[in-house]
Amino acid sequence: MLYDSHAHYDDSRFDADRDEMIMKAHREGVAFINNIASSIESSKKSIALAEKFDFVYATVGVHPSDVMGMTDNDIEILRDLAKHKKVVAIGEIGLDYHYDDTSEEEQRMWFPPQLELSRELSLPVVIHDRESRGDCIRILKEHNIENGVVHCFSGSAETAKEILKMGLHISFTGVLTFKNARKAIEALKVIPMDRLMIETDCPYMSPEPYRGKRNYSGYVIKVAEKIAEIKGLSVEEVAMQTTKTAKKFFNI
Ligand code: NI
Repeated sequence: MLYDSHAHYDDSRFDADRDEMIMKAHREGVAFINNIASSIESSKKSIALAEKFDFVYATVGVHPSDVMGMTDNDIEILRDLAKHKKVVAIGEIGLDYHYDDTSEEEQRMWFPPQLELSRELSLPVVIHDRESRGDCIRILKEHNIENGVVHCFSGSAETAKEILKMGLHISFTGVLTFKNARKAIEALKVIPMDRLMIETDCPYMSPEPYRGKRNYSGYVIKVAEKIAEIKGLSVEEVAMQTTKTAKKFFNI
C-alpha cells in the first residue's frame, strides 16, 4: 500500500489517458494519490479529479513559476477552493530561481500570502524550493511555518537537519534513484520515517530505469525500494511507514 504524495495528473501529458493511468496505479497498489496544483486553473482541475476518484486528494495553490500577474483576488479564489472537503494542503508554493522568466521579486511577494492562508485554514503546505539561495527557508522561518513538507528534496544532510528542526517533513521523488544522488542519499539517512514521504512528481522526475520517460504513480515503488535499500528496511515496511506518515500529515 503506497501513497504518492505529489502528482500532477492535470498536466497535458496525461490528456490522452489520464483516468486510465490513475486507475492503473491504483490497481498496482497505490492506495492514495495527491494531485498537486500549480495554478488557479490547476487547483480547480485537482479538485475535479479528487471528486472523480475517492482515493485522489487535492491541493490548491500557485507554483512560483506561475505567479506572474497574480492578484489579491486569486488569494480569495484559493481561500474558497481550499474549503472543499478533499483539499488536504496549500501548494505547491515556494520559490524557484532556476528559470529566468519569472521575477524573483514577484515570487517572494506571493509566497507569504499563501503561507498565511495555510495557517488561517489549518492546512499543511507543500513547498517547492529550487535554487532559492536560502530565501525559501528564510521566509518559512519568518512566518513560523512548521506544518509543511519540502517536496522533491535533493539537498544535503545539513539542510535536511535544518528543515527537520523547523518541524517540517521531507519527501523524495525518483531523484533518489539517479546515479548522481549521493548527496540526497546522505540526507535520507538523517530523516526519521515519521517525517518522510514519497512521491513521483509525475509526469516529471521518472525514477531509474524509466528516467526521461513519462512518470506515473505506479513508479513510486522505485522510490520506496531505494529507501528500503538505504535504510535497511523491507519495501513493505517503507510503504507502510510512508503511507502512515502521509495519512497523518494530510489528515485523511
Ligand atoms: Ni510538483
